[in-house]
Amino acid sequence: KSPIDITSTPPPSSMMILTQDELKRIAAYKAVDFVKSGMVLGLGTGSTAKHAVDRIGELLRRGELENIVGIPTSKKTQEQALSLGIPLSDLDSHPVIDLSIDGADEVDPRLNLVKGRGGSLLREKMIEGASKKFVVIVDESKMVKHIGGSKLALPVEVVPFCWEFTAERLRGVMEGYGGCEAKLRFGENGRAFVTDNGNYIVDMYLEKDMGDLRVVSDEILRLPGVVEHGMFLDMASTVIIAGELGVKIKNK
Ligand code: 5RP
Repeated sequence: KSPIDITSTPPPSSMMILTQDELKRIAAYKAVDFVKSGMVLGLGTGSTAKHAVDRIGELLRRGELENIVGIPTSKKTQEQALSLGIPLSDLDSHPVIDLSIDGADEVDPRLNLVKGRGGSLLREKMIEGASKKFVVIVDESKMVKHIGGSKLALPVEVVPFCWEFTAERLRGVMEGYGGCEAKLRFGENGRAFVTDNGNYIVDMYLEKDMGDLRVVSDEILRLPGVVEHGMFLDMASTVIIAGELGVKIKNK
């Protein structure tokens, strides 16, 4: 028997063609069904998590939720939550979070994730790692066999000091796992993308599946200059996947 429970709900109408953004909203609204009054909530970052934060704001405004405290995973989510009137706090004041809801870039069959293509991986990992329950919301395009194997980036947050040296060390580590291209991420302004923590992101494009993810993770984290990487191993409790054929819920 698979270690993961799966439940499915059929689509609202088999004739409907939904956009990717509508699928993201469906997954997000389903996740907000887990939210109860009085909870401390980790608020994720990205276009999927944004729908969840909007929904929490709406339920608070309607009086259907009360006494929520939100812990935002980025400055952008903080601004959104403030504009919706969601009371906010931080990990210093709330070191234990009842429930976090966030998107992901990739999800494998064991519910390991790649996150951080939006650049917020460090705060996300701190907050989601401090959560009793972490619900991940995705559309079906995010489901993969092996994380890091999709030819899209595995992000690594690095200190700006001599980032080229760190990128070269990352290439060196990944040599042992089939090799990678490691590129500095740039922002829309054409300059190096700077995270909310004042760091840079090096995106690693892997040549092959990594094999034992825990071993690779430890090797990357041992490099001085690396702050955190975007593999979220064994952290998700539930993944909600919205697709054309309905919503699937996978529980760890
Ligand atoms: C940001 C993230 C996002 O959750 C991830 O990139 C998914 O984003 P989106 O919901 O926009 O597809 O990890 O750091």
